[in-house]
Amino acid sequence: MHIKKLFIVLAIVCFSASLSFANGTQEGGEELPILGAGIYSATDNFNSFIGKAIVKASNGVFDTNIDDGQFDQANQNNQIDTMLAKGASCIAISLVDITAAGNVIQKCKDAGDIPIIFFNKEVTDQELLASYGKCYQVTSTGGTYGADIQGQLVAEYWMAHPEADKNSDGKMQIINLMGDPGHTASMPRSNGVKDAITSAGIELDILEEDTGMWDTAKAKEKMDAWISKFGNEIEFIICANDAMALGSLASIEAAGFNISGTDSEKYIPVIGIDALPEMLSKIESGEVMGSVLQDATTQGTTIVKMASNLVAGKDVLDGMSVELEAGAKAVRVPYTGITKENISTAEECYGN
Ligand code: BGC
Ligand code: CA
Repeated sequence: MHIKKLFIVLAIVCFSASLSFANGTQEGGEELPILGAGIYSATDNFNSFIGKAIVKASNGVFDTNIDDGQFDQANQNNQIDTMLAKGASCIAISLVDITAAGNVIQKCKDAGDIPIIFFNKEVTDQELLASYGKCYQVTSTGGTYGADIQGQLVAEYWMAHPEADKNSDGKMQIINLMGDPGHTASMPRSNGVKDAITSAGIELDILEEDTGMWDTAKAKEKMDAWISKFGNEIEFIICANDAMALGSLASIEAAGFNISGTDSEKYIPVIGIDALPEMLSKIESGEVMGSVLQDATTQGTTIVKMASNLVAGKDVLDGMSVELEAGAKAVRVPYTGITKENISTAEECYGN
């Protein structure tokens, strides 16, 4: 009797063990390595698109899912601890706070020299990056982080539309909405776009310049005040990302601007950066003038290829036709300017 019971218990244990073995395994029965991945906040659409691209590219390569840091570095640290405790073979993360990079690198070292790839929020402490051989970055082109292209698009529009100088004073009256000051790309974008416009020979008159924290709701709130203060005196709205451009658009549309695109009675050109899918329809309709594609899909696939090379003990760029920028230890994915004319370039990036 007892032996029979024991046999049943053993049979159940064996059966459930074989079930759990089936989790995260390849077709051949081999277990996939774990890629511990996370973004700083799921409220950031651009980061969420990189997360989706990582998951897609990980199919059959890594067992992964994307943790949401929820804007809280302490929370993200716990998530990284959990990934490592679960036996992650590589970490890929957009940090909540880039000054936490040293601490996160230490966690990876302590867990047995687990490789780490930072993305989106670029770590600029080159000494720190150099201190760990298994640490790399994937971001978009540095320098102005796409804002030089954005400035060129603004300048081209201005030259092609003399009526855009509404008060005919020869200067461009602008609103400049900047990103989160804690993000590496924020100041370079703000300075970069202004430099590109002035070097095209256009004089700027900055009506307002403030941070919208990369965020749609915050940008809308700011723009609500500015549109009632300046109304049609605004000649261009320049936003450091699409989320803020969409918030600005919602605000000015509520005030009667841009509703019928360029045919609107009252129109203010708006430009962003990222070329997110939700922005493309607004460019198509003419409600928004343009954006600069930041290729989340290529960033995601690049992260996964580098991670799988590192896990296999190969050279980080093995089999890839990209270069590593020394110092930043970064693979840079280039930006592309997007207007109504070449919108399909951005649609293709998102597989539309
Ligand atoms: C993107 C923004 C994003 C920010 C936050 C930037 O590179 O352009 O859309 O909000 O990163 O990490
Ligand atoms: Ca003017």
